[in-house]
Amino acid sequence: TATILYALGDPLRAATADFKNDGTDIDWDNRAGDHHDGMEWFGLSSTGTPSVTAVDRGLLAVNHEATTDETRASFFIHADGGTATLPRPAAEIDKELAIHGISVVEVKKTGSSWAYVKDSAFNFRVTQNTEIELSGPLRGNALAITKFSPTGTSTRGTLNNCGTGKTPWGSFLTGEENWFGYFFRAGNDDTVRGNDKSVIALKRYGRAAGAASRHGWESGGADDRFMRWNNSKSGVSVDGSDDYRNEMNAQGYIVEFDPYTKTKKGVKRSYLGRFAHESAAFGKPVAGQPLAVYMGDDARNEYIYKFVSAANWAEADANPSDRIATGSKYLDQGKLYVAKFNADGSGQWVELSMSNTAVRDYAGYPFADQADICVNTRLAGDAVGATKMDRPEWCSVNPKNGEVYFALTNNSNRRVEPAAGGSQLAPDSANPRVYTDIKGASSSQVGNPNGHILRLKEGTGGNTATTFTWDIYVFAAEASAATGTVNLSNLTGDQDMSSPDGLVFSPSTGICWIQTDDGAYTDVTNCMMLAALPGQVGDGAKKTLSYSRSTGGALTVDTYVGKTPAANELKRFLVGPKDCEITGVAETPDGKALFINIQHPGEGTAMANIGDPAKYTSQWPSNAGYGAGKRPRSATIVITKNDGDVIGR
Ligand code: FEO
Ligand code: CA
Ligand code: CA
Repeated sequence: TATILYALGDPLRAATADFKNDGTDIDWDNRAGDHHDGMEWFGLSSTGTPSVTAVDRGLLAVNHEATTDETRASFFIHADGGTATLPRPAAEIDKELAIHGISVVEVKKTGSSWAYVKDSAFNFRVTQNTEIELSGPLRGNALAITKFSPTGTSTRGTLNNCGTGKTPWGSFLTGEENWFGYFFRAGNDDTVRGNDKSVIALKRYGRAAGAASRHGWESGGADDRFMRWNNSKSGVSVDGSDDYRNEMNAQGYIVEFDPYTKTKKGVKRSYLGRFAHESAAFGKPVAGQPLAVYMGDDARNEYIYKFVSAANWAEADANPSDRIATGSKYLDQGKLYVAKFNADGSGQWVELSMSNTAVRDYAGYPFADQADICVNTRLAGDAVGATKMDRPEWCSVNPKNGEVYFALTNNSNRRVEPAAGGSQLAPDSANPRVYTDIKGASSSQVGNPNGHILRLKEGTGGNTATTFTWDIYVFAAEASAATGTVNLSNLTGDQDMSSPDGLVFSPSTGICWIQTDDGAYTDVTNCMMLAALPGQVGDGAKKTLSYSRSTGGALTVDTYVGKTPAANELKRFLVGPKDCEITGVAETPDGKALFINIQHPGEGTAMANIGDPAKYTSQWPSNAGYGAGKRPRSATIVITKNDGDVIGR
């Protein structure tokens, strides 16, 4: 049974009015945000203390990644769809600043039914106006100085939060993904900056001069909460303390929150690097040894990373009195590595520090110190020749054997013969497929439109290993695609999928939940969630793919394909409503309740049709009996088995 639990606009305190869902709602700081994404469970005992064993009462920490928009306006939350032209009204922007961020909400089981607790004292929101601390190498560094924080020690908000993580000490981690698109840069900003090295960094992170912002938040007026979205150099100071030229340097991190304590400020853990973060997955903690955190950078041809703590894990820290202080112990000192995948099935973790001469002497960007490396992580990855991947999405660690799984969602920039000077890359062993898929009647999609899931097994040293072996657990494909070249995992119609994105191993059942955020196979199916019981690295075979070229003869690529999943080892579990992404999965420790997020149902609706619900591409969840109005809403659902047993048993 799937029950809708917690949707966009739901009130988080008794004093907030019920959601009308007609674009006139106010008090957004006290409502569920939009585009529910990654999510973690934090148990509560019957007396309201943190509990790792509680199964009927807990907190869900939920990412609110983005909003359904067209030409700047978040049209489902404004009565008339909102203003698409600049400048945008402050009142619209204030709503949009509030619906991004995270929420923490109490959920409770009464009898056999789950509901969220509207008036729980635990509930809280983090919006774009919430103050957040900076920690690690960035804290106090010149790169972090802004008008808001002349000492470079804090910022506001956490933005475009996608994947999540749960620390071994019981705190919540959230990854900031496509944050750069929210900032405006003036057309003459390169010149105003004197074409200094910040220009190289801004371009590498997708903000060329003249870049328009996604929502035009910088246009709301002279108040600082709008001005900060203008990333141009506009002040006269040398250090940036009179403008927001450095504001983007405080975005793009893994951010830690204590979900049990709403009065504790969140902390951006800069040592884990700055990029389009997804999830943060811990290697199995071993007492007396460092911790490892695995992470992906979701953009075409970006990298996979690992952070290794300087501190050794102490079991006494599993239930600390101060979770944020414990986070500082493990996440503010250590080593940051980037992955290189070799054609023979081996790989290396390459350290990104000033002691690595490839980083220190990089001709493409003059790094000043570790803070500069942590802020401009992508440039450091470039410096060491890391492997450019097919969009690293969420990662998770298999509790059975400690192997690390990465969803590589798709890549439209793979070509057998890449165009000269562009961003296309030839296939390699870890990203071996280039093919053409047909969508609908004739639309052709070239590259790796369906994605794959890679896994790696650490070598000697476990969490601290600098070498590993790897293979591809599964190649996503349509069942009807050619088995020798595209459907390399021989998927059937009960297993086929496209664009794996969310990926989370259940700690209780060991099931690997795979969720899709797809646009390639949506001519046939909506996005979905699958259940997998994978084997291990090396359980399949080497496969050599051969591509013909116009010059230079055939291109051959060796790859390593995991064992073909049997029918009972990989199965479709659910399919979502139209135009949604399935994302976020958390469960109670007994595996009997599974919380899942349905993001942006109906996002294909044209803004011009806001007044005509019949023209919405989806009316979910109102068509499933939840809430007022017909405007579609992102929502958390809970799935239980009708016999009350463990899901997947
Ligand atoms: Fe927010 Fe890359 O998925
Ligand atoms: Ca197709
Ligand atoms: Ca996603």
